Amino acid sequence: MKALETKSLTKHFGGLAVLQDISMTVEVGERRAIIGPNGAGKTTFFNTISGVIKPNAGEIFVFGDKVTQLPPFRRARLGLARTFQQNNLFVNLSLLDNINLAMPPNQAKMTPRDFLDNWGWWDKSTIPVKEFSYGEQRQVELLLALAQSPRLLLLDEPTAGMSSVETNKITTMIRNLSREITVLIIEHDMDVVFDFADRITVLNYGRVLFEGAKDEVRSDERVKEVYLGSVD
Ligand SMILES: Nc1ncnc2c1ncn2[C@@H]1O[C@H](COP(=O)(O)OP(=O)(O)OP(=O)(O)O)[C@@H](O)[C@H]1O
Ligand SMILES: [Mg+2]
Repeated sequence: MKALETKSLTKHFGGLAVLQDISMTVEVGERRAIIGPNGAGKTTFFNTISGVIKPNAGEIFVFGDKVTQLPPFRRARLGLARTFQQNNLFVNLSLLDNINLAMPPNQAKMTPRDFLDNWGWWDKSTIPVKEFSYGEQRQVELLLALAQSPRLLLLDEPTAGMSSVETNKITTMIRNLSREITVLIIEHDMDVVFDFADRITVLNYGRVLFEGAKDEVRSDERVKEVYLGSVD
């Protein structure tokens, strides 16, 4: 069973080809990292999968269902949740209110209180989100996605702009997620990528430059040239 499949996904902004013929499959339970230089099309790829933007051509399947033309809320019902590169929180509301808004009342597997308790956040539930540090807000954004009981989770640079202590908190959270949740992560921090991912897809100028198990990616000359050159 595939959690996600795209077939020849293509997106243009005006004359700019941002996604070109992206065909990708992600198995249920897999941890897939999407890496590539700034502007490669990574966030646009997530935007087409979640339904925020429509592709010009190609198809998207989530757990076997064709979702290419479905609005985001219909994709969410199939178990798709995401976080954004920039935080997307109701900052004036408390943590609990944010979780209440994220949890589908009839489908939720547990109460908001049990959920926050489980993640060790109940004692902060009444605090307005704007009073949290940036790093805490990024964790809250991940909590909001998890509150939706996703089966397919898209994380767009969850550790961007964080200290190493904060990065560790986020990576601990995602490392401990159940394998019932398939995870795609866009990430520039190669330590996080090589620690977390099973397979890696490298995007460059809107095309898949390379895809493989992480050890294959690490040793691929083309990948080193465009992206990893400065990392090793
Ligand atoms: N809504 C839009 N309208 C026009 N151009 C866009 C739009 N969204 C993205 N682009 C352009 O598409 C290209 C790919 O952008 P995208 O945000 O997908 O890259 P990215 O790989 O996520 O980069 P980064 O690592 O910097 O986040 C960039 O040239 C960007 O300027
Ligand atoms: Mg991006």
